[in-house]
Amino acid sequence: MNVLILGSGGREHALAWKINQSPKLNKLFLAPGNAGTHDIAQNIDIKINDFEAIKSFILKNDINMLIVGPEDPLVNGIHDFFLQFNDLKHLNIIGPVKAAAMLEGSKEFAKEFMQKNNIPTAKFKSFTKNNLTEAHQFLKQLKAPYVLKADGLAAGKGVLIIDDFNQALESLKQMLNGQFGSASEKVVIEEFLNGIELSVFVLTDGQDYVILPEAKDYKRIGEGDTGLNTGGMGAVSPVHFANKNFINKVENQIIKPTIDGLKKENIEYKGFIFIGLMKVDNNPYVIEYNVRLGDPETEVIIPRIKSDLLELFIAVGNNKIKNEKIDIFNETVTTVMLVSEGYPESYEKGKIISGLDTKSESIIFHAGTKLENDKILTNGGRVIAVSSFGKNINISLKKSYQTIENIKFDGKNFRKDIGFDLQ
Ligand code: AMP
Ligand code: GLY
Repeated sequence: MNVLILGSGGREHALAWKINQSPKLNKLFLAPGNAGTHDIAQNIDIKINDFEAIKSFILKNDINMLIVGPEDPLVNGIHDFFLQFNDLKHLNIIGPVKAAAMLEGSKEFAKEFMQKNNIPTAKFKSFTKNNLTEAHQFLKQLKAPYVLKADGLAAGKGVLIIDDFNQALESLKQMLNGQFGSASEKVVIEEFLNGIELSVFVLTDGQDYVILPEAKDYKRIGEGDTGLNTGGMGAVSPVHFANKNFINKVENQIIKPTIDGLKKENIEYKGFIFIGLMKVDNNPYVIEYNVRLGDPETEVIIPRIKSDLLELFIAVGNNKIKNEKIDIFNETVTTVMLVSEGYPESYEKGKIISGLDTKSESIIFHAGTKLENDKILTNGGRVIAVSSFGKNINISLKKSYQTIENIKFDGKNFRKDIGFDLQ
């Protein structure tokens, strides 16, 4: 089996690391990959949204499986693009069609889908410039803080949570006037849910599913969850408050109705569903759907999967996920993200990274790196994710922090309190 993974982050390195262990793998390629994936697979210089170039590469290299890491190509319809071609009918694409990717690409679509399928979520309404008066009325009915969400993809920045009513109204107007470009021409206003967040991941062939390990990520740049939002500064799996009883509720109230809802709409969903949840009084509410794995959540959930992931992907392609079961390691995995100074605002790239070869008890996933003249250089805001196993959060974090001491680059920054609220 020849496999192509699209993407260049820690998520894609973790997927490559796992798939590389499968006896069913013949050749593994990443487009474009990073300095870490270069060690275990072949990186190719193709952009993730250049569907024609990806198609030529797939045909030339006998690729049987395409795994789409980030949401962008999915929302742009990469799965649908490949369905047009008879000579690519055999291609197993892990990642849903455009109609399903709308679950991530449009907050309004996702909320209406949940409403239709009785999936617990915060009360909401969506508005455009043309019904500002109604938006004002709806905001008045809600209690602070006010949650405003740009309908479209806004690089993870399109959600504002505001305490003051007048400020919320002002921000709403700014959003509708193009604060996030066309992504905020429509804004979803929703009730604030007070609880604790976690994410649950599902792999589905559209008919059945397996539930992957859950995870909690740490989005803010600063310790104690303070400062600006980032793509994610670290993650932990398992999440101890997501006990069996809670996960059963998630399965019955959320996962099953989600899969059934997609079936009802005749949307064939093949791939991951990432369900962002808020636990309120021991009940799960959906905050958002993503149509891919999370980053850095992948760097903790993939190491916990004992089963052969490639076999599970093959089952997805053959509509046989029903016959599969997924084995999970009980141990905890944590990951700590090393980022560039300045991130999530402006930062410099091209700093030499040293110490990656030092013996350690961790798994090092590259997030934003590149190889140049045999040197590994920083190439993004998030640079390296250091994942470690342990009997508990403390033990596994200790290993990650020890490994981090040996990895050096100019402006290295990281959070020293990952998992602080779970100990
Ligand atoms: P989203 O992009 O929808 O995941 O939202 C970003 C973050 O905003 C989430 O991870 C939550 O921390 C927060 N958030 C979103 N919606 C709500 C809500 N209804 N109540 C409380 N917090 C929310
Ligand atoms: N860590 C959050 C995300 O991948 O969307």
